Amino acid sequence: MTDWIAIAAAADCPPGTSLERVVCDRVVALANVEGTWHAIDGLCPHQGGPLGKGSLCGTLLTCPWHGWQFDVTTGKHRISPTVRQPKIEVRQQDGQVWVRFPDGAATPNAEPPA
Ligand code: FES
Repeated sequence: MTDWIAIAAAADCPPGTSLERVVCDRVVALANVEGTWHAIDGLCPHQGGPLGKGSLCGTLLTCPWHGWQFDVTTGKHRISPTVRQPKIEVRQQDGQVWVRFPDGAATPNAEPPA
């Protein structure tokens, strides 16, 4: 059984931008860093802000609520070494961006990227 889930059209998230997607009960912050995709848990650990709706500068994603910053390549908080957002596997195929959650959460219509 596959567990890859299409969450966005690649065109919806141009290089240098991020977006938020909700998949089942998960919130995903998707970031396009110069054509390379990164995805982290989209719920800010500070107070639950929408990380995917923040601003992306290089690899640094800033939460729109109070400004906590995370490196989307690692999930690490910019300042605190003990705060880290879970990374989510991500890839692009056929114009779609797909994610796979670490615990294998899936939807019935998920299809595997080749
Ligand atoms: S909720 Fe993200 S910085 Fe406060």
